[in-house]
Amino acid sequence: MERVLTGIQSSGKPHLGNILGAMLPAINLAEQTKGDALFFIADLHSLTTIKDAKVRIDNVYSVAAAWLAFGFDSSKNILYRQSRIREVNELTWYLSCYTKYPLLANAHSFKSKADKLSDVNAGLFIYPVLMAADILMYDAHLIPVGKDQKQHIEIARDIAVHFNSLYGDIFVIPEPIVKEEIMTIPGVDGQKMSKSYKNIIDVFLPEKELKKQVMCIITDSKGVADKKDPDTCTVFKLYALLAEPSEISELREKYLNGNYGYGSAKTDLLKVIMRKFEKERIVYNKFMSNLSDLEDNLRMGEIKAKEIALTVLERVRTQLGF
Ligand code: ADP
Ligand code: TRP
Repeated sequence: MERVLTGIQSSGKPHLGNILGAMLPAINLAEQTKGDALFFIADLHSLTTIKDAKVRIDNVYSVAAAWLAFGFDSSKNILYRQSRIREVNELTWYLSCYTKYPLLANAHSFKSKADKLSDVNAGLFIYPVLMAADILMYDAHLIPVGKDQKQHIEIARDIAVHFNSLYGDIFVIPEPIVKEEIMTIPGVDGQKMSKSYKNIIDVFLPEKELKKQVMCIITDSKGVADKKDPDTCTVFKLYALLAEPSEISELREKYLNGNYGYGSAKTDLLKVIMRKFEKERIVYNKFMSNLSDLEDNLRMGEIKAKEIALTVLERVRTQLGF
């Protein structure tokens, strides 16, 4: 039976881009697969950028609460903190010794920062090896990720194939599952929504603060009476991702006809966000105000994850003579 696995870094609170681009597709894939699924919070990866412990812990809870709010099924699946399965560090070291420099030097995550090498820590450089360990340590087959992570899964695959060619069938060869039709969700400034660009929409915020973020979406300067182009407008693009088909055509008409301002479009978008995520906002807030429940869910997952990890790691240790 095929096992699904994916992780989300705890480098911030999950935003609409993470939810639509990564979390929901992963949950859908897990529902369609007969095998189990492992979802984890990549808190070790977040250390490459976030050095503040409190910030990391808050983010870890927030990512965990989001997984649970979006329908993670804890009877079938496993939710855990990457760092709690300490064996992943051991496997990372073993795999590092089988990973050639050019493979890592070619990773986009490194290359994009290679013009300022003094800012690149060793953790950032071997980031894909830790990712390979995350995957290979759990015999995972299907790895749903956003487009930007596909190359990392291919690196994990290369490492696994190379290792298996030396030692036999030690690792399951993972496959990236990238939904090409999932668009890059735009942020409030129209570029890719990303924590690093500070252009996010956080659907878990109290309504008043959420409204502020929605009202900040940048539009062109057309007046209320003017006819508008829905296809170049970020407000419309976001609305189209969340509303019902009939509502989307109605909004398109309003844009094309004119006498409908961006302020009204933003108010309509806010309503759709509140409606779409109503249930998830309640569950998320319930967990965030009751961290011991959240801890219970994570600890239960960590026991199961550790059991799988130890079995796989034992196969590697035996081969390597440790
Ligand atoms: P960020 O850019 O905010 O730091 P991450 O790199 O932590 O986000 O992304 C976590 C996951 O969410 C990845 O699988 C990524 O592909 C997906 N993701 C992030 N931003 C977007 C976006 N704007 N549109 C679609 N998917 C996204
Ligand atoms: N690097 C991924 C991200 O930033 C998170 C991640 C860490 C991951 N380990 C993984 C995703 C293993 C899939 C599989 O989004």
